[in-house]
Amino acid sequence: MSKLEAVLFDLDGVIVDTAKHHYRAWKELANELGFDFTEEDNERLKGVSRVESLNILLEIGQVEKTEKEKEELAARKNQRYVEAISTMDESEILPGVIDFLQELKNENVPFALGSASKNAPAILKHIKLFDAFDAIVDGNSIAKAKPDPEVFLQGADKLGANYENCVVFEDAQSGIEAGKAAGMYVVGVGSADVLKGADDYITHMTEMNVERIRRK
Ligand code: BG6
Ligand code: MG
Repeated sequence: MSKLEAVLFDLDGVIVDTAKHHYRAWKELANELGFDFTEEDNERLKGVSRVESLNILLEIGQVEKTEKEKEELAARKNQRYVEAISTMDESEILPGVIDFLQELKNENVPFALGSASKNAPAILKHIKLFDAFDAIVDGNSIAKAKPDPEVFLQGADKLGANYENCVVFEDAQSGIEAGKAAGMYVVGVGSADVLKGADDYITHMTEMNVERIRRK
């Protein structure tokens, strides 16, 4: 990529390992409803909004609930999740993230958050990265969840960047599809066997630097 204008980061599973807290909270809910929920099932929930995640969970358990019951279940899951993340601190930032953000700052490449989570601002505050981002787009400001590109398009717009010169970092299949639908260069954080369709793959942010992107 000859002209790198901006970088867009997913939060859960890219900046910080909150995926394990989401998984635990959903699993507890599934168990209470009388069925099991595996890590493989959990892959389908990554990047997906809270409401849509619950729908997938109920479909896996073949359980039917009214809209009112669903509201209560989603709130119960979120309460547990919020409790789990309340003790998070900067030690939970994933390896290589701080160095890469610093490199972007040194190179004057702006970066934004593009997350489906309504808890994103709270998490960023816990890990002391709230002020590091040039823009934040999260589950509170988008109407259409990933794989819709809205979250990344909004992020690029806030940074005044051309979509084709933006890079997205994503650990979820729905997020990779959202980044590609936005016309952006997408780096999958995870295995190419699980995540399909990204332009590049890394297992940790430690493998990433500005030079690697510019060479593409
Ligand atoms: C995404 C996570 O970032 O946010 C999903 O990958 C989660 O697992 C979604 O469901 C919504 O999060 P929240 O915090 O608004 O329930
Ligand atoms: Mg994620």
